Amino acid sequence: MFSKDIGIDLGTANILVHVRGKGIVIHEPSVVAIDVNTQKICAIGQEARDMIGRTPGNIRAIKPLNEGVIADFQITEEILKHFIRKVSGRGFRPRVMVCVPSGITTVEKRAVLEAATLAGAKEVYLVTEPIAAAVGCGLDIAAPSGNMVVDIGGGTTDIAVISLGGEVTSESLRVGGSHMEEAIVRHVKRVYNLAIGDRTAEDIKTTIASAYPDPEKKMSIRGRDLVTGLPATVEISSVDIYPALEEPIHSIVDAIRGVLEVTPPELAADIMNNGMSLTGGGALLEGMARLVEERTGVPVTLAEDPLSCVVRGTGQMLDTMDSSSHRSPLVVSYSKGR
Ligand SMILES: Nc1ncnc2c1ncn2[C@@H]1O[C@H](COP(=O)(O)OP(=O)(O)O)[C@@H](O)[C@H]1O
Ligand SMILES: [Mg+2]
Repeated sequence: MFSKDIGIDLGTANILVHVRGKGIVIHEPSVVAIDVNTQKICAIGQEARDMIGRTPGNIRAIKPLNEGVIADFQITEEILKHFIRKVSGRGFRPRVMVCVPSGITTVEKRAVLEAATLAGAKEVYLVTEPIAAAVGCGLDIAAPSGNMVVDIGGGTTDIAVISLGGEVTSESLRVGGSHMEEAIVRHVKRVYNLAIGDRTAEDIKTTIASAYPDPEKKMSIRGRDLVTGLPATVEISSVDIYPALEEPIHSIVDAIRGVLEVTPPELAADIMNNGMSLTGGGALLEGMARLVEERTGVPVTLAEDPLSCVVRGTGQMLDTMDSSSHRSPLVVSYSKGR
């Protein structure tokens, strides 16, 4: 009998699941719908996301992982259970590798390990986001050479310099794609007198927003006119939106520079040669890679399919766990009864 290996990217915006031999089988938003009267979860993932902004009074859709911390153990456990059960057949006790933000505390680590075990895992491993991202974009993390990875997620940006299988310098910044959206919502309210929802803000971000003011792009959006109180359609331009993004984008760039400044000189020299890799959905923001390259002087590579790098990394790490005795010191393992 073969053992089932499951890699999980418990992201602040998206949850992805990789199953050995099958590839990525789940890619759903990190949203949970809760009935506030009974405190019961009524939907998880895509189904819950479809409820955002459209829920009756007693149902609330929340993003439980948005800050990159495990705020609610119970909900995290339910999420893990939901997806682990969805992909593992009856009777199987899978090995599970969960990717967590690098800023996670020991208590939070314990919570994730226990949650995955309660969800039916035979063995559970934890890996931090930058390590999984680095493996997923094909970097040799065990090499005695510095590699730099910047993962721009929904709620956090994880920055790390990796050498010999470990993070040498790192930072987990609580700024990501969702902060760009919030800034867009505020800006559209001020400039166009229009109230828009988060989904429209995300549409604007992925369609016309850019880290550079030119070239100008336009799109039509719908919202509620704050003067008349009625639904309205407005044409907005990337040039008008640009100032909204300046703050979140620049705090990301500043954090990357901060990590480079405290990186030991030998490793900094390696990074100049190897370049840095950008992963995570936020790396897809138009012009982001170019801006980081310009502001740091380090060559930047945008990872192939940045949204799935981390989960592919967890899958690869489970694969190599059998074939080699080398284990990254950053992988925490836990199995019941050992
Ligand atoms: N083309 C795009 N341009 C800008 N942002 C994007 C694009 N595609 C996805 N994103 C953003 O990337 C974020 C999700 O990235 P992801 O790596 O899944 O985050 P996490 O790991 O925190 O779950 C969201 O904020 C989403 O809006
Ligand atoms: Mg992520």
